Amino acid sequence: MKTAIKTPPKTLFDTQKPPLTLRSPLFYVGDKYKLMPQLRPLFPIHIKRLIEPFVGGGSSFLNTKAQTYLLNDINPYIIRLHQALIAQDFQSFLSKILKKIQAYGLSCSFQDHIPPFALRQTHKKTYFAHYNKIAYERLRADFNAHKQDMETLYLLLIYGFNHMLRFNAKGDFNLPVGNVDFNRNVVGALKAYFEHTKTKQLQFFSLDFKDFLGGIAFKKGDFVYCDPPYLISGSEYNKLWGVKQEQDLYALLQDLDAGGVAWGLSNLATHKGQENPYLLEFAKSYKTFEIQSNYISFKDNSLKKNSREIYITNA
Ligand SMILES: C[S@@+](CC[C@H](N)C(=O)[O-])C[C@H]1O[C@@H](n2cnc3c(N)ncnc32)[C@H](O)[C@@H]1O
Repeated sequence: MKTAIKTPPKTLFDTQKPPLTLRSPLFYVGDKYKLMPQLRPLFPIHIKRLIEPFVGGGSSFLNTKAQTYLLNDINPYIIRLHQALIAQDFQSFLSKILKKIQAYGLSCSFQDHIPPFALRQTHKKTYFAHYNKIAYERLRADFNAHKQDMETLYLLLIYGFNHMLRFNAKGDFNLPVGNVDFNRNVVGALKAYFEHTKTKQLQFFSLDFKDFLGGIAFKKGDFVYCDPPYLISGSEYNKLWGVKQEQDLYALLQDLDAGGVAWGLSNLATHKGQENPYLLEFAKSYKTFEIQSNYISFKDNSLKKNSREIYITNA
């Protein structure tokens, strides 16, 4: 039996104060949401143009005030997701998403459509994954048939394991179902994203960082924030990153410094007893700040406490 799609009450979010730090609704692995309260005060006070070569889910630009934004990521899907979001308004995106959730028979905590009591009892910690597995796999197969529908990809990201964008060698999305669904946190993050981006001048690019930065005519008031993959930690996007990319990035940042362009770089200096010697050498020429982080392993969700996260800047 089909349940009617409920539209959210108008006052649900309107009565809430905006959160101090916005979380991107893409819930990207390695996003800077939790660290922004520490990082933002280290950025220049007045930024005319924020330039992000590694924008990912966008938690950094969402929490940084500037007049214009140039945002880039080598992953074309993350950029297409941002573009799909900013091309529409919140209500129309939400109603398309809710229709799709219903059409596929996925659970939806936001609409109080949760797995039945019996399943919640038998699979106390994994009932969302059990309930959504078949529907999720159907959604994934439908996405992979054309790879064009960004609303479907958005749902795969939301219902997928650890909210990752993961593709196999054939280019098919291959993340398994996760133990999460479309809930009020997701809707809150979406609403904030839409509200925030509609007043911003954003331009998105999907290039390698060298080509992206190489194509910019820098001017006064620019600030380049870099949050690259971390050489000494593991993540899906680390497949694309090695010593060569790390050294190229440092060379580029040195050139920008020589040209008077302000920048900041986030990175991991040590992790699980391993050091990043290239970073530590590079850091000697600039200002370094210690950042308190609870680094989480993307493989098993365990907390890696023996990590040292730093922020390096010439600003
Ligand atoms: C640590 S994540 C950025 C997270 C982001 N700050 C956030 O808050 O969501 C690093 C990003 O770098 C991107 N990336 C990896 N290699 C790249 C390259 N050569 N050029 C541009 N982007 C790259 C990855 O796709 C990934 O999205």
